[in-house]
Amino acid sequence: MKAIELIKELNEGAITPERTCDTVKAGNPERELSRVAVSMFATVDIVRRVKEWGADMLIVHEPTYYDHMEVINVETDVIAAKRALIEESGIVIYRYHDNMHFREVDAIAEGELHYLGLTGKLEKTQYSASGLFVSDTPVSALDLAERMKKDLGIAHPRIAGARDAKGTRIATCFGTPRGVMELLQSKDIDIVLTGEVCEWKIAEYARDAAALGMNKSLIVMGHIGSERDGMRLLTERMKKKYSSFETRYFECGEVYTYND
Ligand SMILES: [Fe+2]
Ligand SMILES: [Fe+2]
Repeated sequence: MKAIELIKELNEGAITPERTCDTVKAGNPERELSRVAVSMFATVDIVRRVKEWGADMLIVHEPTYYDHMEVINVETDVIAAKRALIEESGIVIYRYHDNMHFREVDAIAEGELHYLGLTGKLEKTQYSASGLFVSDTPVSALDLAERMKKDLGIAHPRIAGARDAKGTRIATCFGTPRGVMELLQSKDIDIVLTGEVCEWKIAEYARDAAALGMNKSLIVMGHIGSERDGMRLLTERMKKKYSSFETRYFECGEVYTYND
């Protein structure tokens, strides 16, 4: 199978927006596949590791060159050196972002909820890439943060607002989608999960809401921690579906390191 053929199959069932970031970022899409790597980011470390493994293709969720549409106005030293590394590797890099999110069931949210071990119903909200998950069993923000640590490997999930109050209506704003503040303000929502937020605005709102006795909390998972499990689930599905090439997930790790 060629990279371009795999891309076509991956996009079946997706509602691709008119202007999409899901394009081939490097390499020749006509390349035949024997090894396909999957990761959240094509970090320098990931490019080196997948090259060593012998990958023909790398599927990532996020931009390679620090801009959503990869519009590069200034070829900085970092961009030039990274581009040289990628070009030298010959690996086909494909960004699989919009077509993960924009489908009947958001495939990133599906992966996060799957590995968190939560059962319930995922509905769409009016905001792009965010959903409303109604959990079968009530959970607290603290319960969820503990699961995130244990099952998603997030070193430090951060809770703003109510820690112990249980709720079932959870907004899934994985990554950094629009509508986080609006969903937090909604009377219907108990807990908002997201990747990263503006602290002075959104996290402080959650803190005050809880201090005023409202059952409201926000969990900031870190961008990678909030989305990578969608890519993990994709890898498992590809392994089952394709036998003509090997598929392997590569962990890029969280962007921050800690002193503990
Ligand atoms: Fe995303
Ligand atoms: Fe993202």
